Amino acid sequence: MAGQAFPAGFLFGTASSSYQVKGGWNENGKGESIWDRLTHDHPEIIKDKSTGDVACNSYHLYKENVRMLKELGVHFYRFSVSWPRILPTGHDNVVNEAGIAYYNNLINELIANGIQPMITMYHWDLPQPLQDLGGWTNPALANYFEDYARVLYANFGDRVKWWNTINEPQNIAVGYSSPFGVAPNILTPGHGDYLAMHTILLSHARAYRLYEREFKDKQEGKVSIAASCVWIEPIIDSNEEEESASRVRQMHIGWVLHPIYSATGDYPTVMKEWIAKKSKEEGYSRSRLPRFTKEEIEMVKGTWDYLGINHYTTFFTYRSESESLLLLGTGVANIANEKYATGSSTWLQVVPWGFRKLLNWIAKEYNNPPVLVTENGFSDYGELNDRDRIDYHIKYMWELLKAMKEDGCNVIGYTAWSLMDDFEWASGYTEKFGLFHVDFNDPDRKRTAKKSAEVFSEIIKSNKIPVEWLKL
Ligand code: BGC
Repeated sequence: MAGQAFPAGFLFGTASSSYQVKGGWNENGKGESIWDRLTHDHPEIIKDKSTGDVACNSYHLYKENVRMLKELGVHFYRFSVSWPRILPTGHDNVVNEAGIAYYNNLINELIANGIQPMITMYHWDLPQPLQDLGGWTNPALANYFEDYARVLYANFGDRVKWWNTINEPQNIAVGYSSPFGVAPNILTPGHGDYLAMHTILLSHARAYRLYEREFKDKQEGKVSIAASCVWIEPIIDSNEEEESASRVRQMHIGWVLHPIYSATGDYPTVMKEWIAKKSKEEGYSRSRLPRFTKEEIEMVKGTWDYLGINHYTTFFTYRSESESLLLLGTGVANIANEKYATGSSTWLQVVPWGFRKLLNWIAKEYNNPPVLVTENGFSDYGELNDRDRIDYHIKYMWELLKAMKEDGCNVIGYTAWSLMDDFEWASGYTEKFGLFHVDFNDPDRKRTAKKSAEVFSEIIKSNKIPVEWLKL
């Protein structure tokens, strides 16, 4: 069946993030991060009271990781750099050479094995000293992020051609608004979350502009953000519900992407109006949503070479005063739709058609930019014969192919989350997303390929979806 094939040159990869896999939390000059602080001071926040102190021990086992990646046959590996491992205090006056050496070794090992490195500069492990200055709510972080980005480009940019600046800004903002146990776990909803996002967007843009000015000509790489893109679907079929859902798409996805990818820049108009109206009703004399200056709007607009999206699930929404914590400030709540199964993460319902709708929405909103799916994955309890994970990936890829071939969406690559089971943030080690199983009771953290690893490598080799695996 021709329809099963991906176009030639389509990129396949897998991903991880530093705090979730690396360990070595205080080794060789690494500074403390906000996740070190949260897990050490508040074990009760983490479901199994665990930490990422050792995690998968990737700090020591990176060669084993590359061997697994080679076995999968991926074209690229998306990993994040730990800011406090490179700059222990967050500032660039002291660079930890052991940290630079670690990432040089990893990058060189990948390249020697024919795998392209893709770096995420920030996947949530902020240096604690920067949190002590207010974290992302402090606008000065844009300066420090630019300084950090310069250190990364200067040290690794000769070999790294794919960059994601910041992973899932929306979930970083959650750390300033909702009681989900996301570091720094500060509950200032409607203020801290908007302020944090504002600095994040400016930080992303500053890192992009820096590359453009000082590195791009020589290094010829691509820089993007990786946004969380949940599809929002009204649970009730009515005009009002569709109108609210469409506003929430702008307030959740557009919050990050509109300032960067739209023709006009800035936050979406519907979002600015909604928050201004709410703020007024609440007695504020100014909107709680911060404003960009004209210069900032221009500086942020167009800071992309591709578009990184992380997609897992669809939220089924309805208008409600008691907004869900994940959709605070939007005037809607989301509920589980019993038609769709979940694995071990209750928020992750398997809704493959939502992926196609999302890709079409993005293509339409932002003039069909090249999209790289930077995360897509499913959690279970760690089974080696992980039929549900295989089913998930295949069905989501199938919808992705339809979006490309039937609808003309410009998708250039796909990343399976995750290379291996890891520390799943506030869920600790209770939810497993890996293509490889990790034995967390074994001091050597033995890795074992799951059935999904085999199937994923078959897909990459043949460049098409094996329909025999589709449980249609
Ligand atoms: C994050 C990952 C996380 C995954 C599953 C994404 O939001 O980028 O770090 O493990 O979702 O929850």
